[in-house]
Amino acid sequence: MVRSGSWRVLLLGAGGREHALAWKLYSSPSLGRLFCAPGSDAMDGLAERVKVDMLDPAAVLAFCREKGVDLVVVGPEAPLEAGVADGLRAGRVRVFGPDKDAARLETSKSFAKDFMARHRIPTAKHQVFSDAALAKAALRSSRFPLVVKADGLAQGKGVRVCADSAEASAAVTDFMEKRMLGDAGGTVVFEERLKGPELSVMALVDGRTYKLLPFARDHKRLSDGDAGPNTGGMGAFSPVPVAPALARKIENEVLARAVEGLRKDGLDYRGVLYAGLMLTSDGPKTLEFNCRFGDPEAQAVLPLVEEDLLELFLACAGANLSPGPVKTSGKSCVCVVLASPGYPEKPQTDRPITGLELLRDSGLKVFHSGTARSAGRWVTKGGRVMGVTALEGDFAAARLKAYAAVDGIKFKGMQFRKDIGASKPRAVPAKKPAPTGKR
Ligand code: AMP
Ligand code: GLY
Repeated sequence: MVRSGSWRVLLLGAGGREHALAWKLYSSPSLGRLFCAPGSDAMDGLAERVKVDMLDPAAVLAFCREKGVDLVVVGPEAPLEAGVADGLRAGRVRVFGPDKDAARLETSKSFAKDFMARHRIPTAKHQVFSDAALAKAALRSSRFPLVVKADGLAQGKGVRVCADSAEASAAVTDFMEKRMLGDAGGTVVFEERLKGPELSVMALVDGRTYKLLPFARDHKRLSDGDAGPNTGGMGAFSPVPVAPALARKIENEVLARAVEGLRKDGLDYRGVLYAGLMLTSDGPKTLEFNCRFGDPEAQAVLPLVEEDLLELFLACAGANLSPGPVKTSGKSCVCVVLASPGYPEKPQTDRPITGLELLRDSGLKVFHSGTARSAGRWVTKGGRVMGVTALEGDFAAARLKAYAAVDGIKFKGMQFRKDIGASKPRAVPAKKPAPTGKR
């Protein structure tokens, strides 16, 4: 891997999002060496995989010193909660990812709700409880449906939409009394149930200003038509067409207020800020903040970016980002996730995957989330296995290409949704469709 650039970058993580990040960073002419901890077999050829515990701030810093790493890019939320960004900044290593305190926007829902109230960011009405008896007593005067959320990180298992008092009471028992999610459920948030399409809004932030990425939509439920249980995300598309007035409202009332609020609160936020919104009849409301790229939103958004991602990350880390939206190609991207049988409850893995070697189309990319090479072939290793991603001139062509590729990939019990991107309203400015088929 001889490269012309000089920057040495360490990427933390191993999933589909990190595969997409590695692929995009690798295309930067400024890149010298890319390390990844722990990385995955699919990243071979893009990054040098290293054995460093990504949750251990001292170990990450020691590695950076040993290898002369200039920038650390944090993929998932766990290293942020573990204080890895704080440790690196204290050790004078540039890092793309917020400090532990700032990452409470994601790691504590009650903190996020307080933050939103303080900075006038529209969100659902809520109450916070750290005592189960008080929470249950409050249910007597609650309106239903009611959303019960565990305060801490819960890998998608901490949100229950409850139809009545009995369901909500069971959620309180599970989270607070049985500690089904460990300490993450010690405090709960009750929230009014909102309705409307969801939107994932991500921006690069340097502590003072931000650069908006194209809007994306995740498909969180397991099955077509938004049926079945919630998952980490079964597919995504980007850009999502949003009327200009609504887009301005989202930017002004959510992104701008959040970045300004973080600054006012003295929180060091350099990284990506993700707002999960619901577009209600009463305007956009923020359901959650994440302090990292969405997965699989990153897989659908990064292929659209025309700027040098490494330079953008360096600008965030160095607090010298220029404001304005990130430049994109104007194309459309669709990412279809292939998941293991039994996902999300009990994924069954270690199944051979066939068909990957046949994919040679330049507008197509497969980002691996849970695979490994074993005896010369690919096998499944996780609940979500890979995201088949197509980039085309319009959505119809991108969907066709993604699903044609999915048709050729096989493993036993493979699950995927057939409607990723299908509900997209036609509101993107008309563009000439790119030629379909092999290029
Ligand atoms: P969260 O982790 O807070 O984003 O919640 C996960 C998912 O639960 C969201 O993407 C929504 O689909 C759903 N959800 C969360 N909060 C609400 C709410 N207040 N009303 C309706 N659905 C919600
Ligand atoms: N796809 C939703 C998330 O990354 O949180």
